[in-house]
Amino acid sequence: MTPLPGAEGDLDPTALRERLIARYPIAAEAPETIEVVRGPGRVNLIGEHTDYNEGFVLPVAIDRWIMMALVPTDDRVVELTLLADGTTSRFELDALPRPGRGSIDYVAGVAWSLSESGWPVRGFRAVLASNLPMSAGLSSSAALELASAWALLDADRRPDTDQDRMELARIAQRAENDFVGVRCGLMDQFASSLGRPGAAMLLDCRSLDYRAVTLPLEEHALVVCDSASPRRLAASQYNARREQCERATRLIRSRRPSVKSLRDVDSATLAESADLLDDETMRRAQHVVSENQRVLDCVDALERGDMEAVGRLFAASHASLRDLYEVSSPELDALVEAATAAPGGVAARMTGAGFGGCTINVVERNRVDDFAESVTLSYRRATGLTGRVMVVNPSAGAGVVE
Ligand code: GLA
Repeated sequence: MTPLPGAEGDLDPTALRERLIARYPIAAEAPETIEVVRGPGRVNLIGEHTDYNEGFVLPVAIDRWIMMALVPTDDRVVELTLLADGTTSRFELDALPRPGRGSIDYVAGVAWSLSESGWPVRGFRAVLASNLPMSAGLSSSAALELASAWALLDADRRPDTDQDRMELARIAQRAENDFVGVRCGLMDQFASSLGRPGAAMLLDCRSLDYRAVTLPLEEHALVVCDSASPRRLAASQYNARREQCERATRLIRSRRPSVKSLRDVDSATLAESADLLDDETMRRAQHVVSENQRVLDCVDALERGDMEAVGRLFAASHASLRDLYEVSSPELDALVEAATAAPGGVAARMTGAGFGGCTINVVERNRVDDFAESVTLSYRRATGLTGRVMVVNPSAGAGVVE
């Protein structure tokens, strides 16, 4: 996504309200109408590049958010001030701007997509703050989309069922696909909309059935390591991978008409199709087919509390993304290597689209500090870069902050 300046530290809804009042006199006139909404980022535990192949994913909404304090207006104008750098953007709901203006595209896209789906939207003035690292592979775009959706909807029109929350996720995905122009799958918006505290969310991207998988986090912590390396070619390579998967499906279908997506392919079918696929297409398909199985195996392992098995599955997922799907980077590989050798490290893999960004790690809770120190040091030695290590907690999906 277009970088959106982020701010560090905790987000305080009361302080945000005050900043809104200071910035917008109309908020001072009607303080009782002020609302604070937020959308969480996400980290994916396993199931990478499977969502657009109708496969399985296992993301977690995290306790890092994009937060907005806003005052609703009836002038059909949306105006947003980013507190990190003081910049303001605005647009009219009845004359939506073309995309290409930066982060406001996501807000305008969601306004467009909500209207297309028959959800009435309203204007507002808002200030925005974030403690979610931007463009780091933690879905700051989905967080912004979901926060925007909640801001654009009147209180009595907002989702009050999980079904509505799923619809909102799909509306946000459509904003990104058809307005902003990124062909992402549903995982990020799903996690940001439907996340639950203490749990990862298993989503079947074909049926859209999902369930919460309670994480055994008494003795273990989820730790995100940010490689602090630029996400080179992420958008173009992402789209290229999608096309390669579509190509694999087409070629396999030429012999097996029942195959609608790589979800319908198992490893035996893939082996039988070897003569149809060139090497590269074969490797892409092998990743997707094996990754789907790893998601299901990882859910089993988590439910058994078998963290060693989780470690093996994360390692296999990372190797597959590195060698078969080719979306890792030297920095992500170095970070996984550092985490694997670090005290307390139980499981490590790259997370998200790849080409830079973050890794997700399971770490023994009482050794998190040693882990962080060791990873930071080894990573700096290997790459010259200063990575960032943060413990994240599974949190609830987007909504109003009380
Ligand atoms: C990005 C996309 C998701 C998903 C992941 C890879 O985060 O937005 O839909 O495809 O990459 O798993």
